[in-house]
Amino acid sequence: MWNNSGWSRNKFGIDGWSVQSNKTFFVSFISSVRSLSNWYSTLISRKSYKGVFFLERRTLQIAQIGCGERVGRQLFRKRFLYQYNIRRAMAWLSRGRNQAELVKALKENGLIKTERVERTLLAVDRGHFCKYRPYEDAPQPIGWNATISAPHMHVTCLELLNEHLKPGSKALDIGSGSGYLTACMGIMVRPKGLVVGIEHIPGLAQQSLENIERSQKSLLEEGVVRVMVDDGRKGFLEGAPFDAIHVGAAAGTVPRVLLDQLAPGGRMLIPEGTSEQELVQYDKAKDGTVSKKHITFVRYVPLCSLDQQIRGI
Ligand SMILES: C[S@@+](CC[C@H](N)C(=O)[O-])C[C@H]1O[C@@H](n2cnc3c(N)ncnc32)[C@H](O)[C@@H]1O
Repeated sequence: MWNNSGWSRNKFGIDGWSVQSNKTFFVSFISSVRSLSNWYSTLISRKSYKGVFFLERRTLQIAQIGCGERVGRQLFRKRFLYQYNIRRAMAWLSRGRNQAELVKALKENGLIKTERVERTLLAVDRGHFCKYRPYEDAPQPIGWNATISAPHMHVTCLELLNEHLKPGSKALDIGSGSGYLTACMGIMVRPKGLVVGIEHIPGLAQQSLENIERSQKSLLEEGVVRVMVDDGRKGFLEGAPFDAIHVGAAAGTVPRVLLDQLAPGGRMLIPEGTSEQELVQYDKAKDGTVSKKHITFVRYVPLCSLDQQIRGI
């Protein structure tokens, strides 16, 4: 149980709640973690980043007091990896008055790592793809219960796919939404490459084509980028195999058919899970074996049927 006497100096020399009994520690720790999660959500939604960092420091201290320095840190990292990543990467904090300023902030905050990704982002103005606050590092509504993903997610995925989006590569962008990432991938694979965006909402697919036309018309004229209206859970068998597959909506379980459409040496990024989601990287080796790697915890709209999305299920 937490001692209600308030903050005290513990054996690690930091301020934190002291602990009375080890027996009940785990029960109260877990319930504290649950209410901390709610506080985190509230603070993040209010964009109180100072509050998030303060809470994070205190959470780590509490975990260390209860479980010892090393185990506490591991527990904290596992449970709060998402928030921990926010602090490390300074995601959500990047903003500017135009695309160049947004890209500069994303670079300064350690998200953009390569010049190639930086050049790509500078070439595709997010202002052509969403109406509201395009130069803030946050998802924005684009209609039909869909959102354009936050710039830090676009950057993360482009960095991870960088080696698989060479000139001439073939890529699939499932749940292409606004078309922003599809256009960025198109910039990276041209000339001669191909990026196919698959979006199941016809109005959104049409809107994404208009966005791409406004931003980088030549991608459509050269045939480097195509957008299809279809259920992305099937992939695009006729165009397979692909060097890179990006899925922009969360799958409950990874559709096996998508892994089958990945070329040997190819990479797929897909958010997996329902209430708790993680971005997962699948790599297919030359001999066809597939390995899986956790990247980070994320929050995406579900990869679902058209009807489910329209009804907002
Ligand atoms: C997070 S949003 C858009 C992500 C996109 N990368 C962007 O930044 O604009 C996910 C998109 O997946 C689409 N989607 C969901 N389920 C789908 C499915 N089964 N087939 C195709 N698209 C789907 C939604 O309509 C939505 O546009």
